[in-house]
Amino acid sequence: MKIVVTGASGFLGREVCLAALRRGHEVIALGGSRAPTIPGVKEARAFDLCSEAAVESLLLEEFPQAVVHCAALPTIETCLADPAKARALNTEVPRKLAQLCFHVGAKLVHLSTDTVFDGVAGNYQPTDQPAPLNLYGETKAAAEIEVLRFGREHAAVLRTSPIIGNSPGGDRGLHERLFLAWKEGRPAALFTDEIRQPVEVSNLADVTIELCERANLSGLYHWAGTEALSRHEIGVRIARHFGLEAEHLVTAISRAEVPAASARPRDLSLRLHPLAGKLRTAAQSFDEQLAALRVPRGCEAWVEQVTGRKVVRRLEKGIDF
Ligand SMILES: NC(=O)c1ccc[n+]([C@@H]2O[C@H](COP(=O)([O-])OP(=O)(O)OC[C@H]3O[C@@H](n4cnc5c(N)ncnc54)[C@H](OP(=O)(O)O)[C@@H]3O)[C@@H](O)[C@H]2O)c1
Repeated sequence: MKIVVTGASGFLGREVCLAALRRGHEVIALGGSRAPTIPGVKEARAFDLCSEAAVESLLLEEFPQAVVHCAALPTIETCLADPAKARALNTEVPRKLAQLCFHVGAKLVHLSTDTVFDGVAGNYQPTDQPAPLNLYGETKAAAEIEVLRFGREHAAVLRTSPIIGNSPGGDRGLHERLFLAWKEGRPAALFTDEIRQPVEVSNLADVTIELCERANLSGLYHWAGTEALSRHEIGVRIARHFGLEAEHLVTAISRAEVPAASARPRDLSLRLHPLAGKLRTAAQSFDEQLAALRVPRGCEAWVEQVTGRKVVRRLEKGIDF
């Protein structure tokens, strides 16, 4: 199958390309400002998705069987910094892609987010009504409607949770951002009462490719790991996994202590039904996700110093000690 992957220079998009290659597909990898460097792809280029004419020519020339759309402004902060770009990239681009995919008969797998919910109830199922609290959530919730407007059978919208894993730049994964702070002597203050359900990047990438392959799986789905955890517990378990002293590195705070926290969703846990069970890829426990994490590049000396254990780099996935 020929698959176009957008956001291929980003955290998830790169893994989506690798998952597609592992499963024998032909991949056209589109970065934004940078051409992705991914061995084995048919073509890799920098590409501005906000140019509707360029997107149209690409899809009409390539006639892919599927498009996995990962490009986005994927955080509350980046959306607030440039609201016009957030609306263009997060809502308008998916609308155009859905229209073109419908036209050429390609399946669109569109990445969405748990942040479309307000976090009041938690344990959300795909049929629950989005109620975003911020611009990021608003632009992504609007995109879901646009993508499914052309018929639920032509597209799969996959809402997901905070992604953990090893990123190419060593700064996008949840554990990588923690390590960068720890290394600089800054303990992480993490909420004990804010709930998220992390997912490992390559597991999520496998699911996106299975959705490309499975014509009967379309519509709106949730995918994450199997465990809903507080941010504090996530930080503590990451620290302990690497043999670090969580007590010194992770500080517990509650939302009541931070007035601005009321604008953040409290509990974004997701129910994975009905997608879980329909796929070959299984949802992972948090321990299974931790097993894929490596000490971020540049943090090895610090880890060796505080643990007294040697960090051994391995090429394959897995822990480094
Ligand atoms: N990361 C998470 O924890 C998380 C959680 C839930 C949902 N999601 C969703 O998952 C998806 C992937 O997120 P991510 O974390 O992988 O994002 P990311 O690492 O920030 O990657 C974003 C990608 O978008 C590209 N891009 C930006 N502007 C572009 C433009 N005008 N034209 C074309 N490409 C452009 C970037 O390219 P350049 O860098 O080359 O410019 C980059 O490849 C998003 O839809 C996000 O909403 C992410």
